[in-house]
Amino acid sequence: MRVLRVHHIGIAVRDLEEALRFFSEVLGLEVEDTVIVEDQGMKAAWLSLGDVKLEVMEPLGPDTPVGRFLDRRGEGVHHISVLVDDIGEVSERLREAGVRLVYEEARKAYDGSLINFLHPKTAHGVLIELRQEEG
Ligand code: CO
Repeated sequence: MRVLRVHHIGIAVRDLEEALRFFSEVLGLEVEDTVIVEDQGMKAAWLSLGDVKLEVMEPLGPDTPVGRFLDRRGEGVHHISVLVDDIGEVSERLREAGVRLVYEEARKAYDGSLINFLHPKTAHGVLIELRQEEG
């Protein structure tokens, strides 16, 4: 099992348009894509930052995962996504080591990648996304 590299950093914001004025216009990062992810109740912009991306997320309502995060913690870093070579094997090894995963089975992300999350309580307070790229 191998954890390969950081794929992206997820950032929770209240207003995506306003946040992009900072990340895109002030910092100068390129917006690659803007997507609405209905099953997660959010819209997100993907920006490129060298080999790493930023996923800037605005909730579609208060009773959504990102909406609840903003309520509890305010704006800021929400998760770190790491690429793995085999999400099935990595998940099994982590469970054996007593780590809690958020989903029973890996889910398909909007781009076809398979993802799951390590519960922050078993990862020193960090919400870690596991990601196996499509194909
Ligand atoms: Co993510």
